[in-house]
Amino acid sequence: VGVAKMRKKKIIITIDGPAGAGKTTVAKAVAKRLGFLYLDTGAMYRAMTLKALKARITAEEKERLVEMVNETILIVKKDEKKGMRIWTDGQEVTDKIRTEEVTNNIWWVCKVKEVRNKAKRMQKDIGSDGRIVVEGRDIGTVIFPDAPYKFYLDASIEERAKRRWLEQKNKGMETSDMEKLKQDIEKRDKSDMERELAPLKKADDAVHVDTTNLSIDGVVDKILVYIRKEKV
Ligand code: DC
Repeated sequence: VGVAKMRKKKIIITIDGPAGAGKTTVAKAVAKRLGFLYLDTGAMYRAMTLKALKARITAEEKERLVEMVNETILIVKKDEKKGMRIWTDGQEVTDKIRTEEVTNNIWWVCKVKEVRNKAKRMQKDIGSDGRIVVEGRDIGTVIFPDAPYKFYLDASIEERAKRRWLEQKNKGMETSDMEKLKQDIEKRDKSDMERELAPLKKADDAVHVDTTNLSIDGVVDKILVYIRKEKV
């Protein structure tokens, strides 16, 4: 009976946590190992922020933002080679949403109810068949509160800043000063944790994973071991 029940139950794995905790790399690797879909929910907020910036909408213009969001056709697709890709109004923006300008402006876009509701509807729809790893800030708490496997990834601020620095370096970008990286991350933590709607926090039933001293493979293994031990 247990096994039959398991088969019917939608297998959704949620991975939440602050910026730089390793969510993206880990979520992608876990999905690959299990043959599951991978969904990056931050990309949706990034895409809406990019469009708002292009339309020269400002943080003070909530009505314009809501109007824009309501008429935006947002599409995410899986690309066999390149992973998850995202489009707004027929234009692919997957790479364009990774700029510092977008990152610095998401906070005022992602706190608006209509924006979150649009993202929520899409995420629920995409996840409805299960067999998916979903990464974000509010996935275990708000989007899939009944998911059977929930993880909350965290790491020290120093470690997260170091990872961002390495990321910039590996991408051939100009690297920022470590202190500035720390400040940026702290600012983002604060706005993610203190916003009124769907703030970042660990779901009561999520497994806390401190990734400070773990390699990516170490975190992935920990998660896979946990999943196998728990239910399979
Ligand atoms: O994961 P990321 O860095 O791409 O996310 C960018 C921002 O998007 C994050 O700082 C807050 C917002 N976000 C959110 O509010 N809810 C999510 N589920 C995912 C991201």
